[in-house]
Amino acid sequence: MSNDTSNKNNIDTKQFNELLVNTRATLARIASDFSPVVFASSLALEDMVLTDLIAWGQLPIRIFSLETGRLHKETLNMIERVKETYGISIALYRPDQKAVDEYVHQHGLNAFYDSVEMRKECCRIRKVEPLKLALKDKKAWITGQRRSQSSTRTDLQVQEEDLAHNMVKFNPLADWSEEDVWHYIKSHHVPYNPLHDQGYPSIGCEPCTRAVQPGEDIRAGRWWWENPDSKECGLHVVDGKLVRIKAV
Ligand code: ADX
Ligand code: SF4
Repeated sequence: MSNDTSNKNNIDTKQFNELLVNTRATLARIASDFSPVVFASSLALEDMVLTDLIAWGQLPIRIFSLETGRLHKETLNMIERVKETYGISIALYRPDQKAVDEYVHQHGLNAFYDSVEMRKECCRIRKVEPLKLALKDKKAWITGQRRSQSSTRTDLQVQEEDLAHNMVKFNPLADWSEEDVWHYIKSHHVPYNPLHDQGYPSIGCEPCTRAVQPGEDIRAGRWWWENPDSKECGLHVVDGKLVRIKAV
């Protein structure tokens, strides 16, 4: 797994088109069979592919972002780009201010560097709790996760049972490679976060994301001070574990 995207065009067109047909069909099936369904967008590359597919397919899938209060300005600017390009207003979910204030008061603004526990507590307040609100009363949700992104995602399925939120979860790009993602972005002229061209293949909150060197793992810049196997923020975890159950 590398962040070398110089090979962006080394794509088997027939295979890619099949992948795209399947993904479009998956999204159409989700929209018709799992309403109300929402799509969680971090405004990163994969999520822009899904946004483009949802917009052009005119699918009744509401898009939301978890605005943690610690995102890069480049990421925040993408909210406006999506509005300009597709006429879609992304719903924003923000953390409870009282919980943020208490965390900062007790532990400090950047206490997530101190321990995995402190990092997970910050993610809980800024991402996991707002996610619960975003998913309230929904039948399913969609993410932009891919299998090859990380050692924690190797058994990712397109359709899973989300035991934490008691609903179906879809990862329509589970089978896509990084090259597939870039190929779609370039060939469909999809707007994307400029940080992706500045060494950031994976983008989260600003203080917890750094640029990676060519050849480094694509998630090496996320929570870089932690062990790779702890690098999940709680959005995709059940009872503290990564449990994946393929829905039947
Ligand atoms: S994370 O769990 O490590 O932060 P990552 O950045 O790889 O996740 O993104 C995986 C998927 O989680 C995204 O494609 C998106 O569906 C969802 N996601 C991550 N961050 C956010 C966010 N801030 N708002 C909405 N969805 C998000
Ligand atoms: Fe907090 Fe960092 Fe998690 Fe963002 S990624 S919620 S700043 S610990």
